[in-house]
Order: sequence, then structure tokens, then C-alpha cells
Amino acid sequence: MTYFRDNINEMTGYTPGFQPKAADVVKLNTNENPYAPSPRVLEALKNLAPETLRRYPDPVGQAFREAAATLHGLSPDSILCCNGGDDLLTLAFRAFCDETRPVAYPVPTYTLYAVLARIQNCAAAEVPFGDHFSLPDKLAHVGAPLTIVCNPNAPTGTLIRPNVLADLAGQIKGVLLIDEAYGDFAETNCLDLVRTLDNVILLRSMSKGYSLAGIRFGYAMAHPDLIAGLMKVKDSYNVDAMTLAAATAAIQDQAHFQANVKKTKAARAILTQDLRNLGLDVLDSQTNFVLARSPDFPAADLHGQLAAQHIFVRYFKLPGLADKLRITVGTPDQNTRLIQAMKEILAQ
Ligand SMILES: Cc1ncc(COP(=O)(O)O)c(C=O)c1O
Repeated sequence: MTYFRDNINEMTGYTPGFQPKAADVVKLNTNENPYAPSPRVLEALKNLAPETLRRYPDPVGQAFREAAATLHGLSPDSILCCNGGDDLLTLAFRAFCDETRPVAYPVPTYTLYAVLARIQNCAAAEVPFGDHFSLPDKLAHVGAPLTIVCNPNAPTGTLIRPNVLADLAGQIKGVLLIDEAYGDFAETNCLDLVRTLDNVILLRSMSKGYSLAGIRFGYAMAHPDLIAGLMKVKDSYNVDAMTLAAATAAIQDQAHFQANVKKTKAARAILTQDLRNLGLDVLDSQTNFVLARSPDFPAADLHGQLAAQHIFVRYFKLPGLADKLRITVGTPDQNTRLIQAMKEILAQ
């Protein structure tokens, strides 16, 4: 194809997780929350006035910003509403990177970062994680205008402590974007860094902890000057009125959110142990998924045989990951079905 820029012609696009059509499946491949969102979300959507749809939405989503600011103890101008966390990642690449301004991030990690680097035509310094997925020292010395650390990391589920990331932010000259899409399930988060450091952007998503992957909503928290700069780059109306209403209702129902997160964390502990009992190596996870490796059964085959039984988990044919499966923590019932099927497959 000759119509596109060279980098677009040459690149492979991001491959989203498979979305099966059949109803009776065990879907543990895209880290969705298995529980329903807050009833207040559905109420807010039901109560939308026709006028709200006729008019353009609030370009900055002030109602959400105020609700999030109250929850997190920040000012509303420290918050940017986005069309999913992925929208914020796109904005960051557009704002900070180009042919002469690289991005840096530790690997293995969320594969979208590499895709966005190709689209933006910037170099990507992919620095391998240290032992036990510790932060690699080299990351601070790349000199990248944008450094991204996914924390907790996908697909490993591992966590780097906030003081380590604070040190990194202090060492680099550019911006540190900490992708906390899975932060709802972790022991620590980096919210305090936003209060004290003017080069840190936190990414939060409502797709995981809040059970709202379908509406596409995420947000950034950062120093107001960084938020003001990102505002210049976003689409005027990057979040629609229905999504803003739903997201605002969701963040105001912390009891529902906390209860679902608690259930997932409890199920994660059981799933991890059950997989280990089957002989798999499983990293301790700080997310709503686990990364598991069978020492003797090829991950691709296991993935295929589970899919044949309508049990979907994620397989990445990538360096360091091709022998592993990423399994979303489902309901106790879904997890039991997975474990039972795996037991039978591994016994072959
Ligand atoms: C590491 C990571 N960051 C960001 C996102 C984006 O989340 P969303 O666009 O659904 O808010 C995802 C989605 O799976 C993710 O895995």
C-alpha cells in the first residue's frame, strides 16, 4: 500500500484480545472484571436527558474531575478525562515524542507502547527488567523525554514500590508516565508522587476495577501544567456525554468498587495456589490476572486446547512470554472451570 507514511506501512497494528461471540464461554483473556458495574452507573445512563445527547459533551468533563479530585485529594485541574487509558497513552506519545524524542520503557510490558511508538515514528528504548522484574538502572540514563513504567506491570503482574519510581522521576529529565491501569488490585500506588513531583503522570482506567471496559474511560492525574499541555493535544470532545455520566457515577460508588476488588483479590489468591498445585510456575500477582508457565506443557497447545473448550486465556507469541499464559482472575466458578479443564489437559 503506498498511501500511508512509511512507518505505518511497515508496522503491524496492535492485536486486541479475542472477543468470543458465544454466550457460554469462560472469558479470561482480556482482564475484564467478572462482576457487574455499580447499579448507580446504569441509573445514571437511564436518567440521561435527551438534551444531554443533543448537545456536545463538556470538553473537560468537569463533574468527573471534581468527583475524582475529592476522592484523591487533588485539585480538579490535576485531572484529565480520557477515552480509556489508551487515549492517554496516545496523547502522551503525541505530546512528548517524535523522530528526535524517544520513549523508554522496561520490557516485557504492555505491547501497545511499541505500537504507539511506531505510529508516532519515535525510537523506543526497550530496557529489559532486572532480576525479579525490578526496575532496570539503565532506564534512568536513556535520556528519553517520555519514560513509561507499567505498574503493576502487564503481563507479569509484578509491582515496583513508589519510592523507587520517585527516585526514577528525580533522575530523568523528561516525563514519567506510570501506567496504573491495574493499580486498583495492588498493595501500593503512586498517587503521592503526583502531589510532590511535577514530571509524573498517573494513568488510571475504569476498565478493570470499575467493570467498565465497555464504556471506554480512563483518566490522568498530574501537575496542572502537565494536564494543561495534554489538553492541547486531545480531541475537543474526547469523552462522550454517556461515558462521562457513567464514569462519574462509578467513581462516586466506592463501596461497590471496593467490594468487587476485594472479591477479585481473594479469588486471585486461590487461583494462584490452584495453578501451583497443578505444577505451574505462577508469579505472585498485584493485578487481576496471573502469569503462569507449565514446565512441560507448551503454552500455545494449552491455550489452544482450552479455547477448544470455550475457555479463553491470553497467549503472547513474544520473547520471554511464549512459554506462558496470562489468565484473568474470574469468578470462583469460572476459575474452577479453568482449573478442572487444565487438570484434564495436563494429565494427557
Ligand atoms: C497496561 C495497560 N494500560 C492501559 C490499558 C488501557 O486501558 P483502557 O483503555 O481500557 O482504559 C490497558 C488495557 O488493557 C492495559 O493493560
